Amino acid sequence: MSTKPIELTPEDWQKRYWQDLNKEPYFHRKQHSEKLLKYHDILFPNGTLARVLVPCCGKSLDMIYMADRGHEVVGIEFAKGAIERFHQENALTYMKSKHPGGRFVVYTCKEKNIKVFQGDLFDMKPTMCGLFDAVWDRGGYNSINVSSRKLFCELVTSLLKDRSRILLETFSYKTHGFRGPPHCITEKAVSEDFASFATFTLESIELPPPWTDVSEYRMTVSILQLK
Ligand SMILES: C[S@@+](CC[C@H](N)C(=O)[O-])C[C@H]1O[C@@H](n2cnc3c(N)ncnc32)[C@H](O)[C@@H]1O
Repeated sequence: MSTKPIELTPEDWQKRYWQDLNKEPYFHRKQHSEKLLKYHDILFPNGTLARVLVPCCGKSLDMIYMADRGHEVVGIEFAKGAIERFHQENALTYMKSKHPGGRFVVYTCKEKNIKVFQGDLFDMKPTMCGLFDAVWDRGGYNSINVSSRKLFCELVTSLLKDRSRILLETFSYKTHGFRGPPHCITEKAVSEDFASFATFTLESIELPPPWTDVSEYRMTVSILQLK
């Protein structure tokens, strides 16, 4: 039996996690992230209001949390079902428009300062969505195929303004057969993959492993600043 990390296409994600409307994906949290709350002022120093990117956003409530704190939030998500559920479940309405170039459909929320680009993250260019001051990533970097991880880091970096910051939640573990996602990301991998950033670990805690074929399951929150 293969022990190589699983490779999923965006369509696989849609089928596995977003097709069945009655099933909550294992990664979705019913409340906004307590880490985002705790480290908000480190991600957005000096009370600045920012343009913030949430790559692979799913239907994360963190987008609402940041919009309610005054930020301009832009998500990127392939699964149409995730984006529509995000709006429906939070009693939000949207305008839908095809982005020029045709690779993305943009959902503009009417009630809050949130836009979600529906499409493959790897097709995104700064000319399409503009540049960002900050990124909050929980689950994007961790779930991207291991073979595309470097590309993910380059892409996210290409969308940032000088001196931007990334708040990153990652998981690492020892596998005894588990093939992800999430894939294992160590603190060393973060500083190697994001080599153009100064990287600082804010916290790293061991948690009970959610899968039986995993041990030493650890959650790490890091802040990265573009040098
Ligand atoms: C582990 S989930 C994380 C969701 C969200 N950040 C959260 O905290 O709930 C990863 C998400 O990335 C999306 N995704 C995977 N590959 C993608 C791609 N190439 N482009 C855009 N979205 C993608 C999946 O559909 C899924 O919703």
